[in-house]
Amino acid sequence: MSKSLISIQDFSKEEILHVLDVAKEFEKNRSQDFLSGKVIACLFFEPSTRTRLSFEAAINRLGARVIGFPDARNTSQSKGETLEDTIKIVSNYVDMIVMRHPMEGAAAVAASVSPVPIVNAGDGANQHPTQTLLDMYTILQTQGKLDGLDINMVGDLKYGRTVHSLTQAMSHFNPHFTFTAPEELRMPKKYLEKLSELGIDFKETESLEEGLNACDILYMTRVQQERFPSKEDYDKVKDVYELTASMLGGVRKNMKILHPLPRITEIATDVDDTPYAYYFQQAQNGMFVRMAVISYLLGYR
Ligand code: CP
Repeated sequence: MSKSLISIQDFSKEEILHVLDVAKEFEKNRSQDFLSGKVIACLFFEPSTRTRLSFEAAINRLGARVIGFPDARNTSQSKGETLEDTIKIVSNYVDMIVMRHPMEGAAAVAASVSPVPIVNAGDGANQHPTQTLLDMYTILQTQGKLDGLDINMVGDLKYGRTVHSLTQAMSHFNPHFTFTAPEELRMPKKYLEKLSELGIDFKETESLEEGLNACDILYMTRVQQERFPSKEDYDKVKDVYELTASMLGGVRKNMKILHPLPRITEIATDVDDTPYAYYFQQAQNGMFVRMAVISYLLGYR
């Protein structure tokens, strides 16, 4: 059976560090062709800008070719074909499948019927493991280490899949977490219980100001409109936090602001010009990290 990446927990601490090392090689040498002759499918059943295009750029830069569909409404799933059948068919054509899907657990379903590796590019509110790897690459790049950092995650910690994966992965590195969210969007209990079990230090707050000056990484997130049961529920919390440049006067000098993007109103554009903003570089790192993930899963690095 081929190795897939469905949850960040599919990678050990050693594998995470290996992929980050390989990504560094690709940052130095961005175009290689050792995957020439391979074909990789990018199946995006949900909108994406960064993940899709950085995967496609990564595939092209490794010398492989990419296939996919421009719009999931034009696939035979709209005629009622199951995800399992779609994956059984597409896996006959390609060497790897990268998939984003709105259903939690969709990537695991795909992996259960696929003879080729599946890479989860986001499944509902569950996991986004390649985002986590690029987040960790960026944390290492900006802090010079992964161990013992103060990490403050802010915003939609309930539906935000990136914070779920990142919490699990950073747990290998003795972090101190602050989870900043309104009551409605708190980090799900199962993640908090796991941290308690591992003896990892964390606190929860509703106040953005409270944890702002005591973190190395401020990980901002968008309120995930598409996952709310109603617009009314979304409207209650959609503007809960707005980080502005004027709020950054007392932050640590080494502090960096990350965001998986897209942002809506949670980071004002005047933050972009401060030395703390790092979200655009973070998005660029996605390409190097995805080159590394593809190479590793296909057995080339
Ligand atoms: N960070 C992220 O997943 O962005 P996209 O939705 O644009 O892919």
